[in-house]
Amino acid sequence: MALYSEKVMDHFRNPRNVGVIENADGVGEVGNAKCGDIMKIYLKIDNDTISDVKFETFGCGSAIASSSMATELIKGKPVADALKLTNQAVTEALDGLPAHKLHCSVLAEEAIKAAMKDYYDRHGIAYDESLFPAEHDCESCEV
Ligand code: FES
Repeated sequence: MALYSEKVMDHFRNPRNVGVIENADGVGEVGNAKCGDIMKIYLKIDNDTISDVKFETFGCGSAIASSSMATELIKGKPVADALKLTNQAVTEALDGLPAHKLHCSVLAEEAIKAAMKDYYDRHGIAYDESLFPAEHDCESCEV
């Protein structure tokens, strides 16, 4: 069996929603200190809906495919749905990732959460702190 699914290869070769949103409502940047990959997510939010989302990822193919799929999964959705997006959902939508690449999808979940937190902070919107766990320590990540 191929190491990567066709969906991973497709989103790696033709990533959706790449770029920057000027005047974004929320921006989240996360990195994995072990592999050195960095992911940045830009959100435009209107009426509690993710009206636009873009990403910049400096990292491996799985990180690019994960960012691309994650943005597709939240685009046009209510912000509540974006907050619930898990790395498992991203991985499933990609038809799986090799075990040693699962941390790449974690980066996508964390970047979206960081962008949502930034949105709430910038707009003075109260939120439940437990929705935004402290940044994980990369010691537990396999690279
Ligand atoms: Fe680090 Fe993929 S995000 S190797």
